[in-house]
Amino acid sequence: MKVKTSAPGKLMLFGEHAVVYDYPCIVTSVSSRIYVEVERIPGQFMIDAPQAKDLRFVEETVKVFSEKYKVDNKILIKTYSDFSSKFGLGSSSAVTVALINALSKLYKIELSKQEIFDLGYKIVLNVQGVGSGFDIAVATYGGTLYFVTGGKVIKPLLIKELSLVVGYSGTKADTTSIVKTLKSKIQISKSKYFKTFKSISQIVDAAKITLINGDWKKTGGLMSQNHKLLQELGVSTGKLDKMCQAAVVAGAYGAKLSGAGGGDCMIALAPPERIKKVELAIVEAGGEIVNVKNNSQGVKLEKI
Ligand code: MEV
Repeated sequence: MKVKTSAPGKLMLFGEHAVVYDYPCIVTSVSSRIYVEVERIPGQFMIDAPQAKDLRFVEETVKVFSEKYKVDNKILIKTYSDFSSKFGLGSSSAVTVALINALSKLYKIELSKQEIFDLGYKIVLNVQGVGSGFDIAVATYGGTLYFVTGGKVIKPLLIKELSLVVGYSGTKADTTSIVKTLKSKIQISKSKYFKTFKSISQIVDAAKITLINGDWKKTGGLMSQNHKLLQELGVSTGKLDKMCQAAVVAGAYGAKLSGAGGGDCMIALAPPERIKKVELAIVEAGGEIVNVKNNSQGVKLEKI
């Protein structure tokens, strides 16, 4: 028997970094997906993942799953991706969630979405040691989520597809090391950083309402404010700042970095008739446009 599943990548809309410290964030799934195929084989487990940058998540998922559910791991795992792992769109979390789902189908173990999230989050912490779990949540549930650290709150937000432009800054960010560096800076100046986190959380709560109401102008303004606070945290780069500024000058409602910072992508919210202009401005600022839509379905069975 062969089982094929898939899970979506993600874009952080609001609240990165603060969400590591018990504050909320808003994350959306993207149309690009990771596909996983599993089948039983006679020998030890094998992985065929030509595009994967990092096999630790696949290996840890097999280990944790087979220990927890007492199943053998004589399987062949193949993974494919619609998108490059260089963009920071959550390929590790998507592969983890898709693989948990595929293994549960292969071994006929019923798992709820909550159980997939819990297992996925444990795997992320085993591999990285840090992380809020927002990416595991959105790969599992899909759509757009209001999320609090560790899954304390996972609330779907019913919002329309966003008129977003995503620009890759040309540098791959190392999320774990950025989160750890910030953690050590916080030890030195706790009140300063927590004040910024609090301001970020107020933006997240305001954005929750403007997104639901489809008030794009206000949502864009909140994105630019969130970016300023991320600059204060010291996680932006000159290139990301330049791309965000170019997007706003070209008519975007607002723009911000998306994710850990230090590279990866920025996002801009723009009126549909300005999208082309904003894309051009981002390219002129040295960015590469990543074509994804938001709000796609969470983990799903593709074929059995
Ligand atoms: C990284 O994409 C987002 C961070 O908030 C880390 C996390 O929430 O796990 C920086």
